[in-house]
Amino acid sequence: MNAAQSETIYTYAAPRLKIGPGASAEVGFDLAATGAHRILVVTDPGVARSGGPQRVADQLTEHGLEATVYDQAHVEPTDDSLAAAVAWARDNGPWDGFVAVGGGSSIDTAKAINLLTTNSGELMDYVNAPVGGGQAPTQPLKPLVAVPTTTGTGSESTTICVLDVLSQHVKTGISHAALRPTLAVVDPDLTISQPAGVTASSGMDILCHALESYTAKPYTAYAKKHPHERVPYCGANPIADMWAEKALTLMAGSFRSAVHDGHDVSARYEMALAATFAGFGFGNAGVHIPHANAYPIAGRVKDFHPVGYPQEEAMIPHGMSVSLTAPAAFRFTFDASPDRHLRAASLLAPDAPKTPDPRDQLPSVLTALMRDIGIPNGIAAVGYTESDIPDLVEGSLKQQRLLTTAPREVTADDLTEIFRQSATLW
Ligand SMILES: NC(=O)c1ccc[n+]([C@@H]2O[C@H](COP(=O)([O-])OP(=O)(O)OC[C@H]3O[C@@H](n4cnc5c(N)ncnc54)[C@H](O)[C@@H]3O)[C@@H](O)[C@H]2O)c1
Ligand SMILES: [Zn+2]
Repeated sequence: MNAAQSETIYTYAAPRLKIGPGASAEVGFDLAATGAHRILVVTDPGVARSGGPQRVADQLTEHGLEATVYDQAHVEPTDDSLAAAVAWARDNGPWDGFVAVGGGSSIDTAKAINLLTTNSGELMDYVNAPVGGGQAPTQPLKPLVAVPTTTGTGSESTTICVLDVLSQHVKTGISHAALRPTLAVVDPDLTISQPAGVTASSGMDILCHALESYTAKPYTAYAKKHPHERVPYCGANPIADMWAEKALTLMAGSFRSAVHDGHDVSARYEMALAATFAGFGFGNAGVHIPHANAYPIAGRVKDFHPVGYPQEEAMIPHGMSVSLTAPAAFRFTFDASPDRHLRAASLLAPDAPKTPDPRDQLPSVLTALMRDIGIPNGIAAVGYTESDIPDLVEGSLKQQRLLTTAPREVTADDLTEIFRQSATLW
């Protein structure tokens, strides 16, 4: 590619942000100022039990707003759970605005409700092609305030709603700039009640957002786009790099402490900052191989029931499924940008001993951390055997949007080797 054809432009977008202990107590004031009146608060049963969503609803009422709580968001939404949530919201509307209080599952459910109570059609019309119709909304959405209670997904700042399409055994999303929340309210006090297992898994999601966006194919390696072709994910760029580096530094100091002592308020605060920063980074740069592999790992779960999550259904939580192939994926991407891989490892573990092969430095720092915080020891520990690998590879290959963000070409053989190396990690 000659210089005239390579990309020179990248973009950056983020919602308005209010952040700090106690920030969620101001949601009523902020929403009242928009002129909205009938508000739907979206959450899941586990977060509802923490009392946070009801406190937010009470405070909306104090500001003269009418607040209703919908507490049936499914942990890791499916097409069925989102359709049920939308049907409920359509039956009980109209709504002037939405507040999501919860992790990525509640926030993504609120995004789907907002889309489908302001626009006609059904969920699958808007799901990314080829799984769904890939339609864009034609009508403006209502204000959505996203209040994360996990330290993980960054969904409060992104344009995506992730869902599992049960009939097709595939995880995919709805992605459009209109889905981005209008205001993100990050209140670390709400994250203190996260179970340790959720803190560990959602924290690995933060870490992979930062590492994958930092090592993604640089925006300059893409062909030049026309203005109408621009997408939210531009590849690694100086602005996303800055957020990723800072997120890694924060996690170096706080991740283990937040898992081992959930009441360590300063660790919780730094994890909330790290999740937000990593979200601002990957939400503009994109993620690659570990996230592509996470979709089949989570989607083909057999009988794994992680501690800290609802036990009724087998599941491999998003952050856990992302992390399991991350060490091998970063060994594979090392040669594309050795300096970035080494810098990421040193930000995350400044005092880690040097591995004889520099390709192993970041994988070794990651596996030491995963071991300390109770992440399962590889894909074997969550139920996969050698004979499942072709299926997992096939599932990853469907995530071409993510794989093309990798800094080098990824073939089926490469993915096979990455899954093999990920059977056990230590
Ligand atoms: N939209 C995006 O940009 C994006 C990015 C990454 C992941 N995701 C999606 O987000 C979902 C995962 O979200 P998550 O990791 O934030 O977790 P989650 O929302 O699935 O919640 C995990 C569990 O923790 C509980 N919980 C959450 N906060 C709590 C609190 N403060 N106190 C007590 N319990 C609490 C919930 O009840 C649930 O049982 C997945 O579906 C994933 O695919 C979305
Ligand atoms: Zn993620």
